[in-house]
Amino acid sequence: MKTFLATLMLFALPAMAADRGPADRGPAGYSYGDPSLATAPYTLEDLALLKKSVLFSEDDVKWLRASRAVLEPQAEAVLDTWYGFVGSTPHLLYYFHNRQGKPDGRYLGRVRERFRQWILDTADANYDQAWLDYQYEIARRHHRVGKNRADGATGPDHIPARYVLALLYPITATLRPYLANSDYSAEEVDAMHQAWIKSALIQSILWSEPYMNPGDF
Ligand code: HEM
Repeated sequence: MKTFLATLMLFALPAMAADRGPADRGPAGYSYGDPSLATAPYTLEDLALLKKSVLFSEDDVKWLRASRAVLEPQAEAVLDTWYGFVGSTPHLLYYFHNRQGKPDGRYLGRVRERFRQWILDTADANYDQAWLDYQYEIARRHHRVGKNRADGATGPDHIPARYVLALLYPITATLRPYLANSDYSAEEVDAMHQAWIKSALIQSILWSEPYMNPGDF
C-alpha cells in the first residue's frame, strides 16, 4: 500500500523547477520546431486525407482552440487523472520504470511536463510541417527507435503499439468532465469533446508509423 501511494505521489508531482528546459523552449526534453528533428515519413497531403477520413473539419479546429482556455487552468487536475490511471495500472506503469524495476520519478516528472504542453499544443495545433515532424518524434519516443533518449531514462525501451492505441479511450473519455466544467452548453461541450477525440485519434494514428512494416502505414 505504501509503495502504491508513493507511486501515485510521484505521478502527482510536476517536474522540479530545476528540471525544466529553457523558458522560451518549453519543458525539458521538448523539441517541437527543432530543426534537427527528422522529417516525418508522411506528408501534409497524407494528413489532409487522414483528417477527411476521421471527419475532422475547420469546426473541430475552432472547438479545439476554444478548449484551451477551459483546459489550461485545469491542466494539473487533468494530468492527475491521466497519470493516476497509468500509476495505478502496473502493466502501464512498467514503461516508466528504471533499470532497477522501480518507478523513475525524474522520468515521470519530465514526461508529465511535456504531457501538459501536449494538451496546449493539441488545442492550438496548426497542422504544418513542424507539427507533423513533432508527431513523428512523439511516435519515435514511444517506440524502441527513440524511447528514453530525451530523458536519459534507463528502463524498458519500447511501448507495445496495442497500449498506445488503447490509451486513446481513457485519455479522451476522462477529458469530458473537465470540458464540461465551463460556461459552454452541453452541445458545445460535446463539440469540444468530439474535436479532442478526432485530434487524439489522428495523432495516435501518426504515432503508429514506426510500428508498421515498411509500406504498410
Ligand atoms: C493515445 C495514447 C497516448 C497519448 C496521447 C500519449 C501522450 C504522450 C505525450 C504527449 C508524451 C510526451 C511527448 C514529448 O516528448 O513531447 C508521451 C511520452 C511518453 N508516453 Fe505516451 N501517450 C500515449 C500512450 C502511452 C502509453 C500506452 C504508454 C505506456 C505506459 C505511454 C508512456 C509514455 C512514455 C514512457 C513516454 C516518454 C517517452 C520517452 O522516453 O521520451 N504513452 N506520451
